[in-house]
Amino acid sequence: MGAADLHIFGISGSLRAGSYNMALLRAAAEMLPPGVTLETGRIDDLPLYNDDLRAAGDPEPVARLKRQIEAADAFLIATPECNYSIPGVLKNALDWASRPPKTCCLRQKPIGIMGCSSGESGTMRSQLALRQMFVFTDSYAMLQPELRVPRAGEVFDAAGRLTDEAIRERLGLFLRALADWARLVGQRS
Ligand SMILES: Cc1cc2nc3c(=O)[nH]c(=O)nc-3n(C[C@H](O)[C@H](O)[C@H](O)COP(=O)(O)O)c2cc1C
Repeated sequence: MGAADLHIFGISGSLRAGSYNMALLRAAAEMLPPGVTLETGRIDDLPLYNDDLRAAGDPEPVARLKRQIEAADAFLIATPECNYSIPGVLKNALDWASRPPKTCCLRQKPIGIMGCSSGESGTMRSQLALRQMFVFTDSYAMLQPELRVPRAGEVFDAAGRLTDEAIRERLGLFLRALADWARLVGQRS
């Protein structure tokens, strides 16, 4: 890759096979700006956070997740909303990634937050809950533009392809902004 190239690592906060959030990540992979790559990871094989496990050495799925975040210029999270907050599986993954606090892979990491939900607010509340976490981890979550996808069942087709042209356009703008944001703030001290 050239000096201007940028690598994004993304995860979905939903584990289900037909997840709209995973579908949003797939749509993102089709719409990347020039010079930008997107690798999608998994969080379904992480154990439940247990500080005894961590103290004994990160289990391999945790170590893999940390390596993937560490190696990325930007970390992209597609989150559903569960009971007005983020899903437990995503919280679990981020709790693992947040240790040890002072040197964790989330520290000063440029982060993009987007999400699909079946409700009208399109993950507004879960995105805010995520932002709150990133205060403690000293992560650089991009503020604007926001990408919230309400009524997700209406904007993807049966194959999970994002068919809504207005949202595709906003996704493209969001990805360009995330790449610019990562280049602007991504020099870790
Ligand atoms: C336990 C649970 C709680 C939910 N709570 C909310 C909610 O607070 N707000 C909302 O908009 N949708 C809520 N939903 C609906 C999800 O947004 C919807 O199922 C979404 O499609 C899940 O994301 P996915 O398609 O990526 O799996 C909830 C779903 C579940 C299973």
